[in-house]
Amino acid sequence: MRKRRVGVLISGRGSNMMALVEAARAPDYPAEIVCVVSNRPGAAGLAWAREQGLAAHAVDHKAYATREAFEDALHAVLMAEGVELIACAGFMRLMTAGFVARWAGRMINIHPSLLPLYPGLNTHARALADGVRIVGCTVHHVVAEMDAGPIIAQGAVPVIDGDTPAALADRILSVEHVIYPQALALVASGKARLEDGHVRILSTVNQTARLISPDVG
Ligand code: GAR
Repeated sequence: MRKRRVGVLISGRGSNMMALVEAARAPDYPAEIVCVVSNRPGAAGLAWAREQGLAAHAVDHKAYATREAFEDALHAVLMAEGVELIACAGFMRLMTAGFVARWAGRMINIHPSLLPLYPGLNTHARALADGVRIVGCTVHHVVAEMDAGPIIAQGAVPVIDGDTPAALADRILSVEHVIYPQALALVASGKARLEDGHVRILSTVNQTARLISPDVG
């Protein structure tokens, strides 16, 4: 098995990046994390990656006059590291259509909602305001439109009375750390195949899994 070379893009804490790095340590994991790149030089996740001995780069978006110039610099770093697949993990910069086209089908992202519900920011507060009973997270291919694109994997958790946006964020984040490594493995191994704008899963799946909320027994 040839491991696919993955570059992880972050902007901050990097807990999803850490989950990917930890998962990729397994000998049979179909991808290796070859570098971590942040648009914010002070990102906590970048320091952690450096401590782990990973190639960790800052490409500060503020140092570039245009979005395109920033993306050219980012692209150059990724090419120099031999990156084949990009995993965005809390990378809070919108990509231009040109950058997305360069990496079409080879760039994935995680978002803290059950897309296509709640793209954008403040997902948890908006879900609470709507009174939904189930929330979650989504791993998807990146397309030019923000927080859209063919869905690879989703995870869900119940909303509990008294939940705050912070409590929901914590509960969802722990599921993000499970589904992101699984989704990256599916993509890297070719078991999640992009066909006509949808993802086909070429793997055995648990067909009886379900989540009921409120689950009152
Ligand atoms: C995660 O919850 C991720 O889903 C979200 O930012 C957080 C980053 O946390 N991403 C988005 O909102 C993208 N639209 P992390 O830095 O600890 O992984």
